[in-house]
Amino acid sequence: MARVVVTNRIPTEAVDLLRTEHDVWTWDGDEPMDRATALQRIEGADAILTLLTDTVDDAFLAAAGPQLKVVANVAVGYNNVDVEACERRGIVATNTPGVLTDTTADTAFGLVLMVTRRFGEAERLVRSGRPWAWGMEFMLGTGLQGKTIGIVGPGAIGIATARRARAFGMDVVYSGRSPMEPAAETELGARRVCFDELLATADVVSLHCPLVLHGPDATHHLVDAAALAKMKPTAYLVNSARGPVVDEAALVAALEAGTIAGAGLDVFEEEPTIHPGLLDREDVVLLPHLGSATVETRTAMSVLAAQNALAVLAGRAPENPVTRD
Ligand code: GLV
Repeated sequence: MARVVVTNRIPTEAVDLLRTEHDVWTWDGDEPMDRATALQRIEGADAILTLLTDTVDDAFLAAAGPQLKVVANVAVGYNNVDVEACERRGIVATNTPGVLTDTTADTAFGLVLMVTRRFGEAERLVRSGRPWAWGMEFMLGTGLQGKTIGIVGPGAIGIATARRARAFGMDVVYSGRSPMEPAAETELGARRVCFDELLATADVVSLHCPLVLHGPDATHHLVDAAALAKMKPTAYLVNSARGPVVDEAALVAALEAGTIAGAGLDVFEEEPTIHPGLLDREDVVLLPHLGSATVETRTAMSVLAAQNALAVLAGRAPENPVTRD
């Protein structure tokens, strides 16, 4: 029996699965475990299930001890995991792709609808008790039909978001490190363009790339002041990827200057803190990182992470290993 530590509360299906073979300890607090407690609790673990709020750096791995074999991150994004440190220590790191694709694409497209049709602003108006009345010119939004969505990062979630956009009558352009899977490209009639052309042509720019901090594929502040300046003044930015892909201060400045028309954000640079310049803007929709937040998807993610951990503990290759590249 190996010792498995789960750093947060996760659905019981996943914990039960781990318990069929191993000795499992899970954090049961209402608040997330603080770092010092986490470093103590993981000591002696052979496997750890982590969330994106855990910083899995070298100190974390050292605190667990040399017997640690696998860190199974319950997320598709793994920017919180120092994969190089894992590799150096011979620890397998895994993520949970696939099972959250549609749920996250629903969130992205929900943001598209909310910001272009001003649904967040409208809901705030109704709740405020301020008077309103139906009118020909009352709270007019922007239609999506015949417009262009620019998908930045044509992986599974980008493709699923593009599929939703097509169903709403939008054309699809995309940019990214690699081309879209050919069958999806054909199905969507999607056109690959460079990032600058995407910024200049898209009516909605939707981000689906991973957060990469360093190197030639770095995406930190990919959307900075210069990128925002290339967007149309009528265009919207949607981010359901990772907060630091967008320079939030530059975004606030662009919204203030009317460089772009609005933004829908599910993720932020310093979660849960939000740039104060975003909070009182009516042309911005803000969600508290709900991308994959359905009962079904969080269960599937947790079970997949448990399966990845079980595979490594049994000496098998896990389904979803992550590597530096
Ligand atoms: C959620 O943000 C994830 O990466 O799974």
